[in-house]
Amino acid sequence: MKAPEFIETERLILRRPHLLDAEAIFTRYAGDPEVTRYLGWPRHKSIEQTRGFLAFSNDEWERAPGGPYIIESRETNAVLGSTGFGFEVIDRAAVGYVLAKDAWGFGYAAEALRALTAISPEIGVSYLFAYCHTEHKASARVLEKCGFILEGILPCHTEFPNLEGSGKKDVLCYSREFNKEFP
Ligand SMILES: CC(C)(COP(=O)(O)OP(=O)(O)OC[C@H]1O[C@@H](n2cnc3c(N)ncnc32)[C@H](O)[C@@H]1OP(=O)(O)O)[C@@H](O)C(=O)NCCC(=O)NCCS
Repeated sequence: MKAPEFIETERLILRRPHLLDAEAIFTRYAGDPEVTRYLGWPRHKSIEQTRGFLAFSNDEWERAPGGPYIIESRETNAVLGSTGFGFEVIDRAAVGYVLAKDAWGFGYAAEALRALTAISPEIGVSYLFAYCHTEHKASARVLEKCGFILEGILPCHTEFPNLEGSGKKDVLCYSREFNKEFP
């Protein structure tokens, strides 16, 4: 079953991205060195890279039960960031979230992630997971607030292309399971 392309929460809209979002994504967060510090994808240096992400997003939505979402403010319709699923197989997906700096500290990441966990059992997801850098306390806290359990530390596991120093770094692996019959 496909994930909804539009989700409303108390303060946010989560919606499938479209090509017209490129400029907002690039200027609001994907090109910002501070915002992208702990992300697993390279900071965008041109809007062309952002358009590449949007093509990837479309492919994901076609290929899998769901994909990335733009996070917007319900009050102002401003783009605040993005979140979404990265499906490995039909019932198992990674989750992620990124917000523009002026949107940090209001509980938006947890509110967006809770929306994803709420629909997960309805679309047949039985397992969500997320990796975060061992020093990224805010992200770990978001996952814990949303009911994710720390499975452990995966040593030398993930490249962080926006951090100084090459090589794979240790990550915290968080996960949440869903019983399809009793959500
Ligand atoms: C990480 C990020 C998504 C958090 O978004 P947010 O909307 O500010 O998160 P929330 O407000 O829902 O929750 C953050 C929690 O972390 C806590 N926190 C923030 N900084 C912290 C720190 N340095 N140490 C410990 N806890 C911290 C906050 O107090 C809050 O917990 P609380 O509600 O119990 O007080 C946001 O900072 C961001 O977009 N960062 C850049 C992108 C990124 O790194 N994404 C995650 C990649 S794994």
